[in-house]
Amino acid sequence: MKKLQYTINNKKINHYHFNTINSTQIYAKSQIQNFAPNEINIFSADVQTNGIGQHNREWRSSNEPLDLTATYGFLLDKKFTKSRNLIPHVAVCSVVDLLLSEKIESKIKWVNDVLIDKKKICGVLTESLSDVSNLLYNGYDGVFVGIGLNVNSSFDFIGTLKNNSTSMKIEAKKNQPEVKKNFDVEQLLMKLTSIFLNNLDELFSSGFDKFRNKINSKLERFDNQNVLFKKMDGNDYVGRIKEIGEGGDLIMVDENGEIESFIGGRLQYCV
Ligand code: BTN
Repeated sequence: MKKLQYTINNKKINHYHFNTINSTQIYAKSQIQNFAPNEINIFSADVQTNGIGQHNREWRSSNEPLDLTATYGFLLDKKFTKSRNLIPHVAVCSVVDLLLSEKIESKIKWVNDVLIDKKKICGVLTESLSDVSNLLYNGYDGVFVGIGLNVNSSFDFIGTLKNNSTSMKIEAKKNQPEVKKNFDVEQLLMKLTSIFLNNLDELFSSGFDKFRNKINSKLERFDNQNVLFKKMDGNDYVGRIKEIGEGGDLIMVDENGEIESFIGGRLQYCV
């Protein structure tokens, strides 16, 4: 493990990089007692042997050439608890901005995914720990934002994944077929960190409006077709995606024109 310390956007960053680890997310959560307020901890890895995704799924990345797998872990003052549910939204917006900086257009699948032509390029897993008994600091929650971004994955590797995925390299090659070189994952992580920390500051100081507008302009609405939505109570809902509400909720409309809003649940593909 390599430990680096540096400053980005006036924030002290403790960056732990592993050649191989089971999961940066699991490790980050085990380190919460070492976190300090106003510091950001980044846990990144070349290879994860047990990467975890949303809904207890596995997260697989390419080992050679590399993809980006990292978890941001930090303490969040409980006075910001109301904004905590909006951190996944801000994280996906940050990935969309990162991709745009590399001239790659993408869309947001509410709430945790970034897609290109309906293929997944990035997934975000946000978790929080409250009332941790061994936490040195009172009045804080632990927040963990895991980001898996397909950077240099090849078609071969992607072909082995069950879900429909793509990578930055695959997308960049569509515009410039002659480009052979891989993206520099370390540089991308630095850029992402700067964008993400800026965006988090904006969320806490100015609110969600700007991000809501951005998400609505980039929202994958699946051609306004009906999609299947698994509600939190396990029941199915079928409707079209309308927009994101003020609280980051997903607003959908069913075949009778009735509008419903969801704060949790899982969006599935076209029916
Ligand atoms: C998803 O299912 O779409 C979310 C995937 C999140 C994967 C990242 S990779 C870094 C961090 N470590 C993990 O084990 N998972 C997250």
